[in-house]
Amino acid sequence: MQQAILQLQNVTKQFTKNTLPAVNNVSLTLQQGDILGLLGPSGCGKTTLLRIIAGFERPQTGTVEICGQIVCDASVGLRQHSHYIPTEQRDVGIVFQDYALFPHLNVTENMAFGLRKFNKQQINKRVAEVLQLVGLEGLENRYPYELSGGQQQRVALARALAPQPQLILLDEPLSNLDIQVRLRLREEMRNILKAAGTSAIFVTHDQEEALAISDIVGVMQQGHLEQIGTPEEIYTHPTSRFVAEFVTQANFLPARRQGNFWETEVGSFKLTVDLTHDTGEIMIRQEDLILKPATDASVVIRTRRFLGREYQYCLQTPSGKEIHARTMTDTVLPVGTRVKLSIVDDAVQVFRT
Ligand SMILES: Nc1ncnc2c1ncn2[C@@H]1O[C@H](COP(=O)(O)OP(=O)(O)OP(=O)(O)O)[C@@H](O)[C@H]1O
Ligand SMILES: [Mg+2]
Repeated sequence: MQQAILQLQNVTKQFTKNTLPAVNNVSLTLQQGDILGLLGPSGCGKTTLLRIIAGFERPQTGTVEICGQIVCDASVGLRQHSHYIPTEQRDVGIVFQDYALFPHLNVTENMAFGLRKFNKQQINKRVAEVLQLVGLEGLENRYPYELSGGQQQRVALARALAPQPQLILLDEPLSNLDIQVRLRLREEMRNILKAAGTSAIFVTHDQEEALAISDIVGVMQQGHLEQIGTPEEIYTHPTSRFVAEFVTQANFLPARRQGNFWETEVGSFKLTVDLTHDTGEIMIRQEDLILKPATDASVVIRTRRFLGREYQYCLQTPSGKEIHARTMTDTVLPVGTRVKLSIVDDAVQVFRT
């Protein structure tokens, strides 16, 4: 059975009295070896939550448990004598957005920083092992300015991995890199963490990145953990309109129930799940829309964008709303075409308004 590596219970952090808490009553469990992707818009509390786990911030309420050891207990309110274990004793590694390598130290020296309790021979052995793991053998003597951004970020990961921590915290580690490097490195980072068997929390505000790299995704909004689940669960069964919009970038249209069907201005769609309400907003994912040209249809194609593997169409509804559809490149429809819309079976969801 998997063991919990991290457990947060009712963690709240409020920086100033008159603002909303940056982290609001967050509880979660991370299992040994899993990668948790923490996803949410700017300012929703992702970094603050990481800093609480790392021990840089003390929450007002809640408990933080790492590997079965309570490292912070503010469950009785933040008091002088509440239980608190400092960062350096928490067995966590940290990778920041801006690499944060020491510019005057070479790769080996940067990595050796977390290995001070070992002798020189042990350090060299461990540095060689980890550099191999991150694919940077031979660069031991380079200084940070002699490395590309992607290489620097791999050194930062290597430095965090070197002392073999139980948990690694990564705060938007890829956001300073260009898209090509970023796509490659996110695969590599996942593989490196898996090979090392290290549990991790990976903060990002890029939903695709979170879905691709994580075993479990947590979506935050205004300090709250809105939903936590596997990437598939989050994508296919968002439990709130916010998660649906943020993660899937789906279309939303007002809808009214007629029997098993939900009527919208672009057609009526079957919903198999029973709902207690009769009006709401229907969620239609871009990739689930099927466009069929029909001269009497009320929806019209306004623009078309070629995205490589697919086309994205912007469609205008009778009321003037814009909705988006993505289709494979084998069906190319010109701008101005009127289209009837249908949806891949059961792919809609309705949220109460
Ligand atoms: N030291 C601080 N003092 C006061 N307020 C703070 C402090 N640190 C963060 N905040 C506030 O807490 C909220 C959450 O900030 P946080 O940095 O955790 O967000 P984030 O999700 O990491 O955002 P981003 O994606 O932009 O990095 C913000 O409103 C921020 O202004
Ligand atoms: Mg942040």
